[in-house]
Amino acid sequence: MKSVLKSACCLAVLTLAAGPGFADNLVGPTTLPAAPPLPTGDVQKVDYDELMSVKALDHYSEPDWVTKLVEAGKLPPVQDRLPTKPIVMNMDVAPDGVGVYGGVLRHVTGGRPEGWNWDAGQHQGWGGLTMTAQECLVSTGPMWELSDKKIEPLPDLATSWEWSKDGHQLTMHLLEGAKWSDGQPFSADDVMFYWNDNVLDPQVPARITGDTLGKGTTLEKVDANTIRFTFPQAFAVANLYKLAYLNFCPGPEHILKPLHPKYNADATYDSYVKALKPEQVPWVTMGPWVVTQYSPDQYVVARRNPYYFKVDNKGNQLPYLDEVQWRLSTWEDRDVQTLAGNADWTNMENPSIYLQGVRGAQDKNSPNKLYWGPRSLNWRLEANMSKTCGAQDADGQAIRDLNRKLDFRRALTQALDRQAMGQALVRGPFTAPYPGGINPESGVFNTDAIAYYPYSPETSKTLLAGLGFKDTDGDGILNWTSGPLAGQNLDLDLHFTSQRTTDVALADSVVAMLHEVGIRAVPKPAPTLMDPVRDSCEWSLMIDRGDRSYQVPITNLDTFAPVTYNVPVWHRGTPDRPQELLPFEKKLVELVDAIRAEPDSQKRTELFSELDHVFTENVYQIGLIDASSAMIVNNRFKNVVPGTPVLAYQFAEKGAMRERFWIPKAEQSAVPELQPGVLPGISK
Ligand code: GLA
Ligand code: CA
Repeated sequence: MKSVLKSACCLAVLTLAAGPGFADNLVGPTTLPAAPPLPTGDVQKVDYDELMSVKALDHYSEPDWVTKLVEAGKLPPVQDRLPTKPIVMNMDVAPDGVGVYGGVLRHVTGGRPEGWNWDAGQHQGWGGLTMTAQECLVSTGPMWELSDKKIEPLPDLATSWEWSKDGHQLTMHLLEGAKWSDGQPFSADDVMFYWNDNVLDPQVPARITGDTLGKGTTLEKVDANTIRFTFPQAFAVANLYKLAYLNFCPGPEHILKPLHPKYNADATYDSYVKALKPEQVPWVTMGPWVVTQYSPDQYVVARRNPYYFKVDNKGNQLPYLDEVQWRLSTWEDRDVQTLAGNADWTNMENPSIYLQGVRGAQDKNSPNKLYWGPRSLNWRLEANMSKTCGAQDADGQAIRDLNRKLDFRRALTQALDRQAMGQALVRGPFTAPYPGGINPESGVFNTDAIAYYPYSPETSKTLLAGLGFKDTDGDGILNWTSGPLAGQNLDLDLHFTSQRTTDVALADSVVAMLHEVGIRAVPKPAPTLMDPVRDSCEWSLMIDRGDRSYQVPITNLDTFAPVTYNVPVWHRGTPDRPQELLPFEKKLVELVDAIRAEPDSQKRTELFSELDHVFTENVYQIGLIDASSAMIVNNRFKNVVPGTPVLAYQFAEKGAMRERFWIPKAEQSAVPELQPGVLPGISK
């Protein structure tokens, strides 16, 4: 898993120790301790062109019960519902080959759907639900399975693409004749509406901004099925990764446009974002299953999409499974229910339950198989560095100014004993210290390039004294001695989600460890995941998990540097008031720009080392721990690839290709369908 590139080693970490401010009593950066090995399996790799292709087949089929609806005149024949050239998934390279139709997959999620206007940044409840709703220009989820011959994003709504000679233009060909789940045509207009009226409209909180692909990027419609990007940088290959899940997943224009304030005098931006409530079913999607039933805080049911654009190599329209259910519960319950056989899938990622999971899987009567992946889940502590977003009063600004000082971020990081923090969650090799930045088990991580500030509370205390803090009232907490907060204790609000036990436990550790050096972190648990806190910009410290993959950094370059006004989360600006960048941040932006346009992967890896060096040397992010995780799937399912990682390019719900999963006929009745015979929008 780990390939350490020695060639790019020569970034002199050691010179740091001699720099100004590194007095004798400060413990300077060291190398990251090596983490013990984990029992991850070997993955059988597949060639890019073997996994899927885009072509017309002579004959298509569908489940018999759907054919009956066609015969009854309820919907068009299958060949008319598919694009002229569907995406053909080659089951010869899937572990159990061509499947049979029918059966149910039971998910559990701790998230709750916000609504289904994902053009405007809404999520649909995570846990595989958002991933079921959104299809994107390209697909990166299954890339972890690709052989070295060609590792590139795979086709999705865009089926092929080419670069112009000068490398500035990327022309993409979209699925032709494809349809949304309500039977309406999908076309370049859906993509253009996303770009023009969401991404480029500063009042719509879309996932990306116009600058995400490089300042000055433009997009035009060439014809009904062709679009063309023009990028300021030549051969910006990394941009292709940005056209994947969560960033470039157009919603249905025919539904959204009439709700947008630009086209509807009665609409406001707020009404637009929230116009499509989760209970408004069926949702309209390009995905394999369509939500047909929603019961708040209870469950979500999704049924097969009769217009889905993928088939297997025998011409069977996918997916094989007729129904997917989500129990709306907690993340812990996802583990518990799956281990007990009452649900079919979990990404086991709450370390406190790992030993139970391991024991369960060893039992020969276990209903599941368990697949360990690398330590790719990283938790971090962030210090809000923004001067322009949130906290506009003098007190708030004083805290932001403090967070902007390297000595302070260093005092925070050196107060934390990551080893103890990880072992308090679960003993054993499951966790390791995370230095922040590129994940240590990522292919481009270079241990020689990073600055790892080790645990040293004495160093923290010295640095804090140097910043002027002193416990003037003797209560054990340092006091400010100048500025608007002079005389007050050094209290900082610490936000984290109470949805995951891991985050709560890490918050406990952080509070206790910061207290040791005289900082009071005031716990602010959020009942949601961190999205609303992040968007409010009103927070000083935050614990979160790095879901925008630091495991495959090329997929989310914009989480490493302030390349647009809304990233990274710990240093955001607003559309009118961009960030006030520190000198090293300008360097980070330059490096990200260089990586984005570097076609040579060897050179790109070297640039990543340089980026990670600047990033960690400046403690841009305060890493906490890295944890491994295991995908656990019920034994009923076929075509689950052993070794599927919980998080690589995407979370496993995209990576595992659920549209290929199938259940042998005899085992299908074990879990009854909630809506047998139902197709979205079709009356029986
Ligand atoms: C959450 C869960 C992950 C995964 C993703 C999918 O983040 O914690 O395990 O299910 O949702 O979006
Ligand atoms: Ca005090």
